[in-house]
Amino acid sequence: MFSPIPDYLTEVLDGARSIVDGSVADYIPELAAADVDKIALAIALPDGHRYVVGDCDHVYSIQSMSKPFTYGLALSDNGIDVVLDKVGVEPSGEAFNEISLDDDGRPRNPMINAGAITAHSLIRAADPEERFARLLTLYSAAAGRELDVDERVYTSEAHTGHRNLAMGHLLRSVNILDCDPVDIVNGYFRQCSIRVTTADLALMAATLANGGVQPLTGEQVLPARAVRQVLSVTTSCGMYDAAGDWLSVVGIPAKSGVSGGIIGVLPGQIGIAAFSPRLDKHGNSVRGVHIFERLSADMGMHLMNVPPTHRTAIRSIDIVGDVEVVELQGALQFSNAEIIIRELVDNTSHPAPVVALDVRRVNSINDVARKMLLELLRRFVIEGKQVAIIDPDGAVGEVDLGDGIHAERWTSMPGETTRADDPGITPAR
Ligand code: DON
Repeated sequence: MFSPIPDYLTEVLDGARSIVDGSVADYIPELAAADVDKIALAIALPDGHRYVVGDCDHVYSIQSMSKPFTYGLALSDNGIDVVLDKVGVEPSGEAFNEISLDDDGRPRNPMINAGAITAHSLIRAADPEERFARLLTLYSAAAGRELDVDERVYTSEAHTGHRNLAMGHLLRSVNILDCDPVDIVNGYFRQCSIRVTTADLALMAATLANGGVQPLTGEQVLPARAVRQVLSVTTSCGMYDAAGDWLSVVGIPAKSGVSGGIIGVLPGQIGIAAFSPRLDKHGNSVRGVHIFERLSADMGMHLMNVPPTHRTAIRSIDIVGDVEVVELQGALQFSNAEIIIRELVDNTSHPAPVVALDVRRVNSINDVARKMLLELLRRFVIEGKQVAIIDPDGAVGEVDLGDGIHAERWTSMPGETTRADDPGITPAR
């Protein structure tokens, strides 16, 4: 049997082929030679599995899709506050190449060229070569393979990119850049000329979706806090003056590049990349936008389509001998941890001397939910109960409740026999 997913993706791609609107970027002469018939779509999952359809191995320059990664490294090198002093986080509502600064003299965000040039300058390095090498290493780590530079695209932009050079000089004049603006702008052109495929880009996007951990190698290529900041700004600014429309219609944090690619990141879920060279007036791939709109609508990928989780957090509450077993399930975070607490606090009858939280069906538990549940157990102890967590995989981690109180950690229920639907769980006590 074959998976229906590639068939669906092929259908999406084929649906976009008939769109011939837009035109290739020609202000970088080398990009004007792009093959407009090339089209590709790739999706990468958090375990690194990829679905690729169309011309996914076709190579092109990364252009502005590099900006989130450079911003991430700038954040990682300097911390958020230092970066915020130099480049803002507000959508500009302007074109990507607008020569404008905010009231504090900063570029409005790191996704427009002025902000991206500034972010490039914030990469810590002894010289431009080291700065570029660090970026190439980062992009390669996110793609999971050694990337390189398209020298023709670089030379083409370096010879014609007067507007970006003007921006560099402007930024230097207001001390946003504190080194040679020509070096920085050339470094930025080189960063934009790194060669990728749509399959690479899907993995790079999945690395951001995965909190900075590359799905295949397991390498933490950017700190999770930096990735959160990158994705916040990508959401509000990644599609330039089309960002509001994009967020409401597509709802997938995304960044486009004038070579024709768009990367999309659904946090915790998937990385997406689409490619087709013809662009709309904002500099976004026309077919790429169509593909993303379709994926979002068909596959429920809009960021605001979040299924309610809170009602299902408690699977069952049973009294088994001396133990009140509260079986939890799902992905635990504040809202469903609150439901668990409310249920157990409102229900004042806890007849058994032991209260055990069974987390064997919990898929994930965030830090807040973990703290809330441990505090709940601590309060049970103060009320005279013994407490335990049934947690054979150590999902809850340390079960120190503070004040020298510990919850017992069980690998199964006392006296429990292996369940038919839970093979492998054997009684530990
Ligand atoms: O700086 C430029 O103009 C290009 N190297 C990158 C612009 C870009 O990709 C805009 N995105 N759609």
